[in-house]
Amino acid sequence: MPHGLFHQLESFYDAIPRIDARAEQHGALTLFVRDGEGFPYYARPSVDGGEPTAVDVRLVRDRQRELGVAEAFEWVHETTPGLLAVLEHLGFAVLRAPLMVLDKPLVAPEVDAALRVLDPDAAGFLEDVAVVQTVAQLSFSTPGTHKGDTGPKDRDTLLPTVIPVHVPKFRYALAEDATDGAVAAGMTQTAGAVAEVVGVGTLPFARRRGLGAAITAVLARDALDRGAERVFLSAGSEDIARVYERVGFRRIGTACVAEAEAGNAGPVNAEAGNGAA
Ligand SMILES: CC(C)(COP(=O)(O)OP(=O)(O)OC[C@H]1O[C@@H](n2cnc3c(N)ncnc32)[C@H](O)[C@@H]1OP(=O)(O)O)[C@@H](O)C(=O)NCCC(=O)NCCS
Repeated sequence: MPHGLFHQLESFYDAIPRIDARAEQHGALTLFVRDGEGFPYYARPSVDGGEPTAVDVRLVRDRQRELGVAEAFEWVHETTPGLLAVLEHLGFAVLRAPLMVLDKPLVAPEVDAALRVLDPDAAGFLEDVAVVQTVAQLSFSTPGTHKGDTGPKDRDTLLPTVIPVHVPKFRYALAEDATDGAVAAGMTQTAGAVAEVVGVGTLPFARRRGLGAAITAVLARDALDRGAERVFLSAGSEDIARVYERVGFRRIGTACVAEAEAGNAGPVNAEAGNGAA
């Protein structure tokens, strides 16, 4: 059973989806099901539920197929070390993301852009949320940390098609260049005293001038100022983790994200019957 920091993170991971989804119990796994619109959730090990078995995974996959959602699982390796082998044995591709907590003084780089955290009570808030979501969408469609061509023109073309979706658990930050407008964005989501930085993205043309680090720092500062006792994140890769290390985050473990590869949907019963756990 995890203690201290890892237990705090498990409680957070369990609380966040419950804000806008319901929880179904399948063996030692909890599947979060969203009834309304929005990105579908995944299944996670239940808090203090022990190691999920292949049979538990089968139950969840059956239900995910029934619901028509991705066969997706997320967990912290240090807390539930056995799940990696179970899912890899079943053919899942597993992303191992550096799990990092802020445990050093925050370092915010000097950047040639104005940084602001959006005020939910300000006029134009939802329009700004649409800008954040547009910048994020374009940034994440060019993965990695390299510079690229995608820039303000692409943002301005996409923006009118984006319908902002705001959920109160989120806080948003934007970096705005005097000439080019919004070039980087990010968010935090908060449950209790824990805040997670998510969705940090810089338009490819504006990368490698400190904006990703600066957005992360401004979001972490905002979370601390609002009473967070723990600020953490998971980095998409080792290269991206360096950006967060410079801000004051330190790697403490691995957050795993597993999704069944396309065309590897069955036969679930036979797979689970092998007893891998
Ligand atoms: C990850 C991401 C947000 C980083 O954004 P960024 O604005 O380029 O980040 P930074 O500029 O702070 O740091 C990136 C690199 O530029 C370097 N850099 C920062 N300021 C610099 C400057 N003034 N001159 C030269 N290099 C600089 C950093 O040292 C870092 O180098 P490294 O890769 O060798 O470690 C961006 O690449 C991105 O949007 N990627 C796709 C989406 C994504 O994966 N997001 C993260 C999810 S966890």
